[in-house]
Amino acid sequence: MPIDAAENAWILEMKSAAYALAVDPAGVLAHRYWGPRLPYREDYPPASSPHSWASFDMASNLTREEYPCYAGTRYVEPCLKVTFCDGVRDVVPRFTHAELDGDNATLRLHLRDAYYPFEITLHYRAHVAYDLLERWATLTNQGDAPVVLERAWSAQWHLPPGEHYRLTHLAGRWSDEMHLQRDQLTSGVVRLESRRLATGHQHANWFAIDRGTASENAGEVWFGALAWSGNFAMAAESTAFTSTRVSIGLNDWDFAWQLQPGESFSTPSSIGGFSAQGFTGASQQLHDYIRDHVLPHGAAVHKVLYNSWEATGFQVSEQSQRTLAKRAAAIGVELFILDDGWFHGRDDDAAALGDWWPDERKFPNGLAPLIASVNELGMDFGLWIEPEMVNARSELYRAHPDWVIHFPTRARSEARQQMILNLARADVQEYLIAQLDALLTQNNIAFVKWDMNRNVSEPGWPDAPGDQREIWVRYVQGLYHVWATLRERHPGVIWQTCAGGGGRVDLGILRLADQAWTSDNTDGVARLGIQEGYSYAYPACTMEAWATDASPAYVPLSFRFHSSMCGVLGVGGDLLRWSDEMCAEAAALIEQYKQVRHIVHQGDQFRLGSPQSEACTGVLYLTKDRTEGVLFAFRTFVPFPAQMPPLFPRGLLPTILYEFEGIPGQKSGLAWEQAGIALGLGNFESTMRLVRAVEL
Ligand code: GLA
Repeated sequence: MPIDAAENAWILEMKSAAYALAVDPAGVLAHRYWGPRLPYREDYPPASSPHSWASFDMASNLTREEYPCYAGTRYVEPCLKVTFCDGVRDVVPRFTHAELDGDNATLRLHLRDAYYPFEITLHYRAHVAYDLLERWATLTNQGDAPVVLERAWSAQWHLPPGEHYRLTHLAGRWSDEMHLQRDQLTSGVVRLESRRLATGHQHANWFAIDRGTASENAGEVWFGALAWSGNFAMAAESTAFTSTRVSIGLNDWDFAWQLQPGESFSTPSSIGGFSAQGFTGASQQLHDYIRDHVLPHGAAVHKVLYNSWEATGFQVSEQSQRTLAKRAAAIGVELFILDDGWFHGRDDDAAALGDWWPDERKFPNGLAPLIASVNELGMDFGLWIEPEMVNARSELYRAHPDWVIHFPTRARSEARQQMILNLARADVQEYLIAQLDALLTQNNIAFVKWDMNRNVSEPGWPDAPGDQREIWVRYVQGLYHVWATLRERHPGVIWQTCAGGGGRVDLGILRLADQAWTSDNTDGVARLGIQEGYSYAYPACTMEAWATDASPAYVPLSFRFHSSMCGVLGVGGDLLRWSDEMCAEAAALIEQYKQVRHIVHQGDQFRLGSPQSEACTGVLYLTKDRTEGVLFAFRTFVPFPAQMPPLFPRGLLPTILYEFEGIPGQKSGLAWEQAGIALGLGNFESTMRLVRAVEL
């Protein structure tokens, strides 16, 4: 990474992208460039100080600052807002010095307030191979009086000067997550956020920006994400001065953090990337980075699981689960998950959350006999938990009613009849670690599904040591602590993040969870759109998907399987009701999946069409060396007399000959991409086709 400290200017060059910043002539740390890597250092624009437009828009409001702080005549979204102990409510940062880490990939820029002993450190880490930059800020109070942070965002990402930018983001609700949404940015701020304590089903903390012309295949796309699993805010702002930027960080709504003398506060990381290969390139960069650097077990190939929830609900027993397990093993399942209903006093959703030991009536000898029989059938065993929650009817709540998040003078709103334990509290963290550690130590548990089935209410913490509003951050830190401790003690366990489906998927939780439960909506048709949105940000090896009985009868079993085979395949239907023919078909599909899952989990993904707006679509996965691939194609409903248009594959090597299973002829990659593949599917039909490079 070239660096010119003498001129206080830095260029961070990655594989094909670059990012440049400098202290401008007015002494302000300003953005210079983010885009394709340029041939010469001189190509990168200098940081020039803009001229004031009027007394209403002075130079300070027009400078594209790297980390604007609320101060002076600035009215754009700031990243930082503080109050000092004397009531002064702005920050005037002055650049002091830069440091470059030994590996030459991390730059630290130090700024200090013009008057107060308050330091801002901006961190820039280049993930060179992925064309990604990781940014975060550390705020340090070097004075002898507390400072209150009121907004502490992670980064502001500037787009090149220009207009007509378009924001792509993922929006939804429970059972309907991750819908791709595209909005033209006009003058003003588009703010997407969570106030729910978790990331939420409503907005992923991921964005992509283009000039309105990028496609899946081509065009420039800038994108980013936040590694945080709680309240977040993302503000896409376009000014009247051809400046567009996206700021991202902890939500400042109801946020405050007391920084005591000598203390530091570090924001979560934000990742930003640039792709010149359209949205596919952007997704693939992020997928590779997540697989290589975020996921605890990396790009592992995950087992085919069976989950009992949709079959037996809360009515689990040793016998019912043994019977299901036998049927699951017979169709080729490798991992059997006992979902909700197994713990002390749990018969429905009105009781028992908090009491994490096996129900004595349902499992008189504990879980060990069931686990042993699952293991004898050749499968691993996994368990559902919802550690952050408690029901009023539980031993835990009777013993510790003060452990839940609450305002003392308000009724405690329940949702799904449960309340939220305050994971900001050390005693709650210790209780959970002890309970769950015992469970994992005493039983041969290979997989844990960690659920969270409601959002926050009355966000109080009456005996907080400091400002109660710190709960938003301290809760998530507590969650990370509990989860990380359990991971450390049980490193072989595979963890799944679930929050009523995809209510907590982000780059923060994916440091702890190997996969995510994508949605409680398991209809194979609805899932195509949800999975499409999911794939923009997160890789298929994290996307758990089950074939179930939730689809209408006109959606064949094969369609439901093919839809789920686009991620980590699971089965969630009631196997006791499946006919022998269905089981035989399922077994054949699972076997086919096992032959290709390394391509799905570890290869590159190409979206062929958009199921959110088209009836005939496909998803193609190719190995990194492009010698093997697998195509899943789907047709939902197209009224008579429409025909299925061909699907146009992408990503093939242009001059290599390929065969597509079931389609006559061999053609070069380029020829297939031009000709397309006609599959002739009928309504609600799907297919899986292998793709092979022909050996010459
Ligand atoms: C949530 C999950 C489901 C299931 C139930 C159990 O809704 O998303 O998959 O585990 O909880 O109560």
